[in-house]
Amino acid sequence: MPDAPQQAELDRIPAALRGRVDRILISAAEIQAKVSELARRIDQDYAGEEILLIGVLKGAFVVIADLARSLTIPCSVDFMAVSSYGSATKTSGVVRILKDLDADIEGKHVIVVEDIIDSGLTLDYLVRNLNSRGPASLAVMALLTKPSRHRVEVPLSYLGFEIEDHFVVGYGLDLDQHHRNLPFICTLKGVD
Ligand code: IMP
Ligand code: MG
Repeated sequence: MPDAPQQAELDRIPAALRGRVDRILISAAEIQAKVSELARRIDQDYAGEEILLIGVLKGAFVVIADLARSLTIPCSVDFMAVSSYGSATKTSGVVRILKDLDADIEGKHVIVVEDIIDSGLTLDYLVRNLNSRGPASLAVMALLTKPSRHRVEVPLSYLGFEIEDHFVVGYGLDLDQHHRNLPFICTLKGVD
């Protein structure tokens, strides 16, 4: 049986989905508080500057929307899409650019926004690729990271939460393109 706070979270999502949720790891309120806190740090770190947020599609679309609206410094937003997963839950290690940025980043203060760092291979590739384009600075923010699964070290300037090695969905994260719209981060029944 879910405890009372978990039940309250579950009551907010479509009834058809409730039975699929195994455990809520991070509640909607915890996520909102963390994203606001990270936005305040970014406001301070880049005071007087304008930044470019680069969201890594698709998973980062939710966190980047909340982050951008919490910032008080000027920012613009662009997106990249890369493939590191097929439809399975394990990384292929192969990174391919499916959609590149719309504009040049030379001379700009860039923050790459990722949903989750698993092996780290996607971000490692992205950071090297973006650095070669001559930004004024490049920082990385990730909502989640799974330290036990890292295969390469990715320097993270802004981190939401460390989690254990479970496959999670919600708040932008998917399983086979589903569940991105859940307001919290959770595990699913029958999925590791
Ligand atoms: P990495 O290259 O192994 O670090 O994989 C990063 C990408 O894999 C993320 O941007 C996600 O799209 C996906 N991913 C990794 N772990 C999870 C998870 O637990 N749930 C959903 N997607 C995940
Ligand atoms: Mg994904």
